[in-house]
Amino acid sequence: MAKTAMVTGASGGIGLEFAERLAKEGYQVTLVARGEGKLKEIVARLGAGHRSIAADLSVAADTRRVADDVRATKYDLLVNNAGVGVYGWFADVPVEPTLAMMRLNMDSLVELSHTFLQGAKSGDALLNVASTLALLSFPGAATYCATKAFVTAFSEGLWFENKPRGVYVAALLPGVTKTNFHEASGGTADQTPPAAITQTSAQVVDVAMAALESRSSPTILTSFTNKAMVFFSTRIIPRKAMVNLMGGQSPVKRAPAQLKA
Ligand SMILES: NC(=O)c1ccc[n+]([C@@H]2O[C@H](COP(=O)([O-])OP(=O)(O)OC[C@H]3O[C@@H](n4cnc5c(N)ncnc54)[C@H](OP(=O)(O)O)[C@@H]3O)[C@@H](O)[C@H]2O)c1
Repeated sequence: MAKTAMVTGASGGIGLEFAERLAKEGYQVTLVARGEGKLKEIVARLGAGHRSIAADLSVAADTRRVADDVRATKYDLLVNNAGVGVYGWFADVPVEPTLAMMRLNMDSLVELSHTFLQGAKSGDALLNVASTLALLSFPGAATYCATKAFVTAFSEGLWFENKPRGVYVAALLPGVTKTNFHEASGGTADQTPPAAITQTSAQVVDVAMAALESRSSPTILTSFTNKAMVFFSTRIIPRKAMVNLMGGQSPVKRAPAQLKA
């Protein structure tokens, strides 16, 4: 019988790369995202055996509907990948997009993880997509960083809880990856991160697929550069210096008129 996987945020970027890779490896994939038309096109391209669920995972009722499918289908692999950022100084932007991001990046991920793990059997795997920013702080995307710190700590705890039953749980921590994320988060062209530290979705998924094979670590960093940056920022320099460094490098700056004298 074919293995089954659900990938959230599967209509673009890292999630689409996961869906395509898993389909190639023989999984029957269920793709979740908001845009129904795009999902249907991708499913048609992937071929028979795959399907999609259009759902806005920042909305509780939609998350419940997807959770019902997880309960009924009993997937072998769940990739909780859907996520957005909200750029801007926290108090300068309306709070609702920030709250919607928290519901998507954390609440829906918790509910789908819970449903999946209740029905999981030995050999199954749960991959939660966080970010290298989970280990840092990033003024200009403060709440986003905090959501990814949550995903990482949450997944590490679940890794330990579930290894005795043979269920692998891990947090995937990509660094800057060339996708629509930057634009979707409100980033502008002049704020695009440097190409030298940017990976492709394919490179990120290569590392994730190898980690799903080896099942050795609760946290997965996706490049040597990302590992070096995290090591320097968390082990070499003091935390306060790291926050000042990240704040200085943040592409999201407060408009001069908003700065206090
Ligand atoms: N790109 C990076 O630099 C980077 C770095 C570290 C971590 N990450 C993480 O990687 C994950 C994937 O991001 P990406 O870079 O591939 O971004 P992306 O290209 O913008 O793709 C995001 C995917 O999530 C879906 N999505 C967005 N809002 C949704 C919602 N409310 N409900 C359901 N689906 C939703 C989008 O489809 P619809 O718009 O149709 O819903 C799309 O399929 C995210 O968790 C992100 O935080 C990205």
